[in-house]
Amino acid sequence: MKYTIPKGVFDILPFEPKEEDRWRNSDHWLYIEEVIRGVAADYGFKEIRTPLFESTDLFVRGVGESSDIVTKEMYTFLDKADRSLTLRPEGTASVMRAVVEKRLDQTPGPHKFYYIGPMFRYERPQAGRYRQHHQFGAEALGIGQPEQDVEIIDMFYEFYRRLGIQGLTVMINSVGDEESRASFRHALADYLKPHFDKLSEDSKVRFSKNTLRILDSKDPQDQQLLKEAPSLLNFLSAEAKEHFERVQILLKKIGLPFVINPKLVRGLDYYNKTVVEIVGTHLGAQNTLGGGGRYDGLTAALGGPHLPSVGFSTGLERLLQTMTGQNIAFPEPPHPFVFLIPLGEKSLDHCLTLLYQLRHAKIPAEIDISGKKVQHGLQMANVTKATYTVILGDRELETQEIELKEMASRQGENLRLGELFETLKGRYNV
Ligand code: HAM
Repeated sequence: MKYTIPKGVFDILPFEPKEEDRWRNSDHWLYIEEVIRGVAADYGFKEIRTPLFESTDLFVRGVGESSDIVTKEMYTFLDKADRSLTLRPEGTASVMRAVVEKRLDQTPGPHKFYYIGPMFRYERPQAGRYRQHHQFGAEALGIGQPEQDVEIIDMFYEFYRRLGIQGLTVMINSVGDEESRASFRHALADYLKPHFDKLSEDSKVRFSKNTLRILDSKDPQDQQLLKEAPSLLNFLSAEAKEHFERVQILLKKIGLPFVINPKLVRGLDYYNKTVVEIVGTHLGAQNTLGGGGRYDGLTAALGGPHLPSVGFSTGLERLLQTMTGQNIAFPEPPHPFVFLIPLGEKSLDHCLTLLYQLRHAKIPAEIDISGKKVQHGLQMANVTKATYTVILGDRELETQEIELKEMASRQGENLRLGELFETLKGRYNV
């Protein structure tokens, strides 16, 4: 074939022939989205849908000039009027753009938003890492209190719990305010300077551009060096410290288990105070199911009002892979209540009338209109997991008697053709 799918992306299909691709079955996505909408409603978050592309500047300013996303991973292009646009690599900057542009912060009611959708990052594809991935994210804006941080963390933890995911670790840290970070940056640079030559190439680049990100390095030698490094937590301002302590007290109060990871800094530049990641069990290097934190300065950096905010997002691919890895069962997708198999032209017309009558009564019904043999219809009835099957041929039309067959038990029962609709309706609505 001439056309194949680009590298790092995938289709979401109702059937995947390969066992290792089954996690991305479209029925699973529908189920996850239903759970998302349920949990978001329970926590009072409203859906927001922003465009898939925005002005490039938004992400450069929002996510941060020195972040990996902006320096290496953006899908940026010029439109026909030479505007620089970028496929969104994440959702927070777009949500904040919409909030500031439409002044959603001035509307009545809580300002809590969630989104589900694709994000684009030019990364090296591997298990759990794609060039188009999907996120469920949530942003709560306008509230600087630690109670808001905890609501967000709890909502995502509850979301994972509703899906039945086991073995999660909630890691939290505080990256303080701008001053805390500036003094820590100095201390970290002073500590690392004598070891500069031993740092990995990535960390050498980060040393001058984004020193804090060195803490995040996965390189074993870097990690060894960092063991004795100063801790960010010792550089927090009194206010940031108090905020972080309150977050911990509240998490304990609601029984949400967490660990403090003083090296957690996150890859996007907009964070301050609380940062959080939730780590799973099944994806090795790509084990982080979701991450987020507080970003009080973002709206002002985008030219808007000061709106202290906090948010989190989780990757849906990693979630589905973790669920599959943990053998978590997905609910059965919807199936036809009755499958009609017409044999011959006259019975086809009769079946079509019945089919639409059933569907208009909101009873899921399916038919084999291929004109093929009865075996074909029966096979389709099996594949679609229909509850009942009816075969209708000339003989049935003549006698007005049909057999309603229950597929699971293989039991048949004889009915008058004229009673079929009412019988099915009665059973479906029990
Ligand atoms: P992030 O940590 O960059 O944060 O991404 C959030 C989650 O998206 C990750 O934990 C991961 O599950 C998933 N993810 C990211 N990149 C990929 C990829 N290439 N392939 C598969 N999954 C991926 C953010 O995007 C922030 N906007 C989160 C946030 C919301 N902070 C505050 N509010």
